[in-house]
Amino acid sequence: MTRPYHLLAIETSCDETSVAVVRNGGEVLSNVVSSQIDTHRRFGGVVPEIASRKHVESVTVILEEAVAKAGVSLGDIDAVAVTQGPGLVGALLVGVVAAKSLSLALDVPLIGTHHIAGHIYANRLVGEIEYPALALVVSGGHTELVLLASEGRFQIIGRTRDDAVGEAYDKVARALSLPYPGGPHIDRLAQEAREEIELPRAWLEPDCYDFSFSGLKSAVLAEINRANMKGEPIRAAALARGFQESVIDVVTAKAMKAAAEYGVRQLLLCGGVAANRGLRERLSALCAEAALPLLVPPLSLCTDNAAMIAAAADLKWRRGEFGTLDLKAEPQLSLEDWSVSH
Ligand code: KG4
Ligand code: ZN
Repeated sequence: MTRPYHLLAIETSCDETSVAVVRNGGEVLSNVVSSQIDTHRRFGGVVPEIASRKHVESVTVILEEAVAKAGVSLGDIDAVAVTQGPGLVGALLVGVVAAKSLSLALDVPLIGTHHIAGHIYANRLVGEIEYPALALVVSGGHTELVLLASEGRFQIIGRTRDDAVGEAYDKVARALSLPYPGGPHIDRLAQEAREEIELPRAWLEPDCYDFSFSGLKSAVLAEINRANMKGEPIRAAALARGFQESVIDVVTAKAMKAAAEYGVRQLLLCGGVAANRGLRERLSALCAEAALPLLVPPLSLCTDNAAMIAAAADLKWRRGEFGTLDLKAEPQLSLEDWSVSH
């Protein structure tokens, strides 16, 4: 029997400081997440400088907590993984510096990891991934359809041309005076709504897998302005329902079409917006109808966390593809370039 191995992963790309210890690539021993949401809420969004400062304050504490919770000692750690990008540069740097120091002190390899590869491979913590697979990535900063022809090989076949889905959710929520982050509030209102304000769907060119959400967001703002000008009350729930239905119609239709065209064996849903109840329900129903297996991480693995970073780093660990101590935080790191090399 081979000896178990432990990856320690650090995630600081945006507003969550997280450290996880994962055994043998799939067994999460600890996944500590410290969210800064309460700090950023009063500004209505993430303030980069404050995010960096908060990461500096908490990273060592979270690290110690994750190691203690995992029931291992630092000597048991076989490699240190860290989110290298994409993300806010100052925020990424905190994790990168901590990871480099730890890898040097423990004399173990360092693995720079792609944040979106992390969201996608969160699904690896739920079940076995069968290839070719298609990932629908819906997060605060990204909206992409990613084809995985084989393990660790990423090809982006569609992406947003403007706002990411989560970003559109947050902006619409702000216009409706809902707290940050707005996604869960819009989701709740949409579920409660008894009527719906019909809003446009951005299908773009036929056969195109790209997305666009800024027109939809503008349609919501226009409706709010129209009501304000006429002195009418804002029908927040009906607007939330209309917005959510438009988003779900477009992202699920494009994902199902791409899944059929590329003949994938599995669909993977991931990113913070994968926590959306309406989206999960619709995609489950469509996949059941098409007899296409669907993997969706539990809510705690949908939003930013370090266990997903360890799951993606494991691809490189098993292939011996390590980073060096001159590894830099890369705010625009490319997912395709991060693919495994063999
Ligand atoms: O993946 P994530 O944690 O951060 C990024 O990497 O961007 O995603 C955060 C986003 C936020 O925009 C938040 O509003 C959205 O995920 N979100 C939701 C829900 N829960 C979180 N959006 C819609 N419905 C939800 N239930
Ligand atoms: Zn994320």
